[in-house]
Amino acid sequence: MSSNGSSVTLLDLPVDLLLLIFPYLDAASFLSLTSTCRALHNPDFVEDAMYWSDLVRHQFRVPNQPVVQNDGRRWKRLYKRMRTQSKIFSWGNDDKGCLGQSFDMPNLPGQRRPVMRRSRHISCPGEMEGTEQLGIISDMQCGGWSTSLLTSKGALYTCGVLDGLQFNQRRPPYMQQPKRQPTALRFPSGMPQPKDRYDPVTAIKQFSSGRSHVLALSDTGRIWSWQDIELPGMHVKFVHHSLTEDGRERGTGVVKKVVAGWNKSVALIEGSGIVVWEPLQLSPEECDTSDAALVLESTVVPRTRYVESQNRKTAEGSSEGEDVGEVQSFIVLEDSILFNTSLGKVFAALITWTDTAQTVSDPVELSIPAGGEANAEASFVTDIQGSFRNFAVFTKAGDVLTSEQDRVMPLLTNQHTNRRLFTRIPALQNKQVISLAFGDYHFHALHSTGEITSYGYEPQSCGALGLGGHGVPEGRLRGIRNRGIGGDGHLVPHAYTEGRRVWFEKEKQEWISFITSGGADPQEGAARVRMAIGSPGPNAQGEVSEWIEQEGRDWEGKFGIRGQGEEDDGLGAYFALSVSAAGWHSGALVLVNEDMAEKLRKAVEVPEHPPGEEPQEDVASSAQPSYESSRATPSTSDTAPSNETILDRAADWGRYFLGLAPYNVNDAAYDPNAAHLRTNTTARNQPGPSNRHNPQSQNFGASPRPGYKYIWADDHFPRLRLSDGTEMPGEVPFHEWRYGRPEWNLAWEDGE
Ligand SMILES: *[C@@H]1O[C@H](CO)[C@@H](O)[C@H](O)[C@H]1NC(C)=O
Ligand SMILES: *[C@@H]1O[C@H](CO)[C@@H](O)[C@H](O)[C@H]1NC(C)=O
Ligand SMILES: *[C@@H]1O[C@H](CO)[C@@H](O)[C@H](O)[C@H]1NC(C)=O
Ligand SMILES: *[C@@H]1O[C@H](CO)[C@@H](O)[C@H](O)[C@H]1NC(C)=O
Repeated sequence: MSSNGSSVTLLDLPVDLLLLIFPYLDAASFLSLTSTCRALHNPDFVEDAMYWSDLVRHQFRVPNQPVVQNDGRRWKRLYKRMRTQSKIFSWGNDDKGCLGQSFDMPNLPGQRRPVMRRSRHISCPGEMEGTEQLGIISDMQCGGWSTSLLTSKGALYTCGVLDGLQFNQRRPPYMQQPKRQPTALRFPSGMPQPKDRYDPVTAIKQFSSGRSHVLALSDTGRIWSWQDIELPGMHVKFVHHSLTEDGRERGTGVVKKVVAGWNKSVALIEGSGIVVWEPLQLSPEECDTSDAALVLESTVVPRTRYVESQNRKTAEGSSEGEDVGEVQSFIVLEDSILFNTSLGKVFAALITWTDTAQTVSDPVELSIPAGGEANAEASFVTDIQGSFRNFAVFTKAGDVLTSEQDRVMPLLTNQHTNRRLFTRIPALQNKQVISLAFGDYHFHALHSTGEITSYGYEPQSCGALGLGGHGVPEGRLRGIRNRGIGGDGHLVPHAYTEGRRVWFEKEKQEWISFITSGGADPQEGAARVRMAIGSPGPNAQGEVSEWIEQEGRDWEGKFGIRGQGEEDDGLGAYFALSVSAAGWHSGALVLVNEDMAEKLRKAVEVPEHPPGEEPQEDVASSAQPSYESSRATPSTSDTAPSNETILDRAADWGRYFLGLAPYNVNDAAYDPNAAHLRTNTTARNQPGPSNRHNPQSQNFGASPRPGYKYIWADDHFPRLRLSDGTEMPGEVPFHEWRYGRPEWNLAWEDGE
């Protein structure tokens, strides 16, 4: 890099002044400046956290992540990736098309008409469709029946429907109609749409998806509210508060943040405090004829208007709320509002909203358990996150404490309780957790390493945990225990020691199908499969699924893809930038390094042995693969086949033990004794018909395509020595733990 005249002059300036100049430079100028001289070419400057986090947050509109605010290296890498590689993945219950994935099913022979399904259960992350033309996606949030995206241009897009219960549409069936593709949220006619032209009045800098509405804050500080994808948003005005809409970041009337809750709208307005109002419920006609809505009834959370006076100008009113501190962030649960303040405290207030009274109670401080060390850091709250009925607080000491609205209620209603307020889940402590996202019954943690882990349970096996499985065995090997077929899927207690990661690699799905079906020698592994996924107690399942978890970790290192070449920026092939959840579904904004992902795909394929052998006609492929049926209610074959039949079938032990038809067989046609099922192991490992929507149909994950097999095609179902001394049966040598068997902490729910 040659230094030109102007940068030499720059370098004569003292470092303090240079630091002041940084924010005005674009990335190229910044990098060339810091490479012109040795004093500047050191990580303190090149990886200046302020510079890069500012750039990412302002150029791409990515929300801040307080926990990693000071990690300059991370922000710098993110900046590079953001420009090309942002993708949206979604999973869970596809109610009203909220996942934004299409499901083109192969036509099944003998199926007279297409099966209409209102909801589909997707348990492995799939890419949302129609996002390529939207440009760079900077934020993503789930609503009750929707998923919404924010782009770096400040435009919002939503798929699904905003309000799945509203019946006020003009035409039959009078309900909001699902959008299967991301659809731009509109503004009143005459206003510029952010996707077409930048206008600070309509470009969105922050948004929040509630259960059934979306609130957004524009660059000027205007609040917009949407209740229906097809209707324009409304400019929100208050009778009792005047807003400053000139783009300032501070000052009286400046809106700092908006949150759409379960069925409330809430904004933090400087000088007013936390203001609560009911979501707008305008008729389509009203939306046509007006561009603003005046909120008549709103209420303020008491003692939340205090502003730390930088220059002692705000003397008036400053004593009120001084002990609370300045509100910095807040969340809205079903019936309460929680906020953290500049003093590192967290408070909760009860919302009472009836026809006659709309009030919010005096905030009550929540006491933070110090967890042994009685120091100030352990109880200083640095972040608060949550929705509906669940929340979490983050402390300066690095603890992540989870709780529920129900546990706070006694405090808010002056009732006595012995129940502990917070839970300390082992897998969330000192695991670089940046944020938590809560659905109704499941939740996810985002780790600064770009990984997502899952907790809680998925109702009706809806796939919300993102760990695979619909009562089919892959989910069992990830640690899900279903209460009955199609019943709720709960995680084994072992999953709370280290966490269970959501996998974005398709190859991992193939691999786990292969292991679940019994591995290279299903007959040898049958007893272990039964022990791992068919035992009444959770121990074998807990430990085998953790072993699987460890094998799935560092997938890139395992296949030698880490640290190779230019394209490895250290973030891995799939790096999750954010995660969101609502209801029974989830989504993530993932920065995908396509070069690395492709290398991974290639690395797990090896030619068949011996070379030159012609692929055999697949014996079982005469039965058309049935994605639909394999996911639907399984056949109930109550009569256990004799020993002989089991061995003959040699098809898929995992499914067999659960009483399910093999993957490549239509349930309706499932007859465990049928001749065409009598295949043998060799036949089983031949490549099957290719179908991207149904990786399992490719013969149990042994082969990707004719002439090739997966690198794991000779691996056996894991045989472990369990922590209680049990040795899993079999003839193959015991498997070792990749990272050592964890010290199980199964009693975390009882102890503090
Ligand atoms: C808001 O939700 C609460 C709790 O589900 C419910 O009691 C209340 O009636 C709801 N209010 C409206 C306006 O829907
Ligand atoms: C309160 O939370 C917000 C974000 O949720 C964070 O930025 C802020 O630093 C927190 N306040 C304190 C004093 O740590
Ligand atoms: C299977 O065979 C074993 C050994 O021959 C026998 O002990 C067991 O009872 C048989 N099980 C069934 C279900 O027939
Ligand atoms: C197993 O199947 C393969 C391929 O279909 C066949 O060549 C082989 O003879 C079969 N082995 C047995 C023992 O049936």
